[in-house]
Amino acid sequence: MTEPVDDRATRHARRATATAHANIALIKYWGKADERLIIPRSSSLSLTLDGLSTTTTVTFGNDACDGADNGVADGADAAAADTDTVAPTSGDTLIIDGRRHEGTALQRVAKFMDLVRRMAGIDTPVRIVSRNTVPYGAGLASSASAFAALAAAGSRAAGLDLSPRGLSRLARRGSGSACRSVFGGLVQWHAGHDDESSYAEPVPCAMDLAIIVIAVSTGQKKLSSRSGMRRTVDTSPLYPAWIDAGERDMREALDAVARQDLEKLGEVSEANALGMHAAMIAARPAVLYWMPQTVAALHAVEAVRTSGLPAWSTMDAGPNVKVLTDAGHAQRVAQALRDRLPGCAVQVHRRGPGVVMENGYE
Ligand code: DP6
Repeated sequence: MTEPVDDRATRHARRATATAHANIALIKYWGKADERLIIPRSSSLSLTLDGLSTTTTVTFGNDACDGADNGVADGADAAAADTDTVAPTSGDTLIIDGRRHEGTALQRVAKFMDLVRRMAGIDTPVRIVSRNTVPYGAGLASSASAFAALAAAGSRAAGLDLSPRGLSRLARRGSGSACRSVFGGLVQWHAGHDDESSYAEPVPCAMDLAIIVIAVSTGQKKLSSRSGMRRTVDTSPLYPAWIDAGERDMREALDAVARQDLEKLGEVSEANALGMHAAMIAARPAVLYWMPQTVAALHAVEAVRTSGLPAWSTMDAGPNVKVLTDAGHAQRVAQALRDRLPGCAVQVHRRGPGVVMENGYE
């Protein structure tokens, strides 16, 4: 990571905007070896998606607390501010999709910005205004795009000029999966063993992969992935077996990518995801994100595959089912799924870009 370029951020409000896209893991991250640094217990592999993004503007400096454009849609939204019982941490302001947050969400973001402030040697408050095209907290990887965009905009606004790897390491500290959203396309997160060795990087892939999201529910999930994974690590008797299998899964997935073998990549991805959910369900008490429609969707994907189309399921910390296919078959797979799952929104996502800065220093 680079040193701060100067101390202008301590004297002037500085602003930067960045957009990052969600990613869906094919080989999953579930469980931390180090909770503070967010070092995972296993490496993971993901596809960054188009269409599911977070755009975040970070403004540092004294203007950050009372600026004119606070991004709040209207007074009613502001009044409906987060009612979490945790007291506000800092002078920071957090507005997500027009709603001001003052509880645990602000605390988590302020803690992340403390890291950025320490790296830049500044201590001014920030205003963070974020807009999502991903439903927030619904198992559609909103924390990945959110912290990748925040790391990029926050570090740039603080006067830091991080390398892509440095940015990935920083994003990881906000949310593990965010380190992968720094890059576009297929991305591997090397688990590593400390802050320096745990980062993501792109994986060359000649296949034009696509992910179809079957939206079973876009409501807020009841148990965060952070708590769910901690409970799985601590209590699930199946967790060690899943971690063991994960090493082999990763080798097979990378080999399948290199050989452009979509079928093998699909098989190993589906097995890895369902194995993760088996470990979750075996936790005490169970970490159960599935709903009746989840099971219906998993069966529908299997039926579509049996009919001859390339389609393999994956799932994250929520009830939605995502389907790996390739761009050439994606529309046909999506239509076959819609036919079998009336009432579920089915949406195709192609490979998406890495993090993009929308403006430089102001
Ligand atoms: C199931 O990255 O949200 O989506 O590091 O605690 O913020 P924290 O967890 P998070 O977990 C994502 C878990 C997953 C699988 C994956 O994306 O690899």
